[in-house]
Amino acid sequence: MPNSNNIQINKTSYTINVTDSYNDKFVLSFKKNEYANLRELIEENYPEEFGACKGKGLCGTCAVRSNKEIKNDFQSATEIEILKKNNTNLKNTRLACQVQANKTIDKMTFKILTEE
Ligand code: FES
Repeated sequence: MPNSNNIQINKTSYTINVTDSYNDKFVLSFKKNEYANLRELIEENYPEEFGACKGKGLCGTCAVRSNKEIKNDFQSATEIEILKKNNTNLKNTRLACQVQANKTIDKMTFKILTEE
């Protein structure tokens, strides 16, 4: 007889909340492996273009601030430099193009800090 305590549910659908610079709020749902990164997820579901360099990690226009630290997601020295250069190097601030769109960000809230 199977033990119900051993059943694992592999959740494959996630949700995030996004607030833009006009304070408009969006609830975005995505599936596992659907988007390469957070910038792509936001841009696909957002009425305006998001991220001038289209995810090359060079412009800094995709800066977002999360409601809590993103765990287990590597932040490079280059990303930190670009955030500093754009005066967006704040606590829990990342370049959306450098954040993986996976279960790590499920149920998190992101504020878009910059617009093109
Ligand atoms: S889109 Fe340019 S740094 Fe992210």
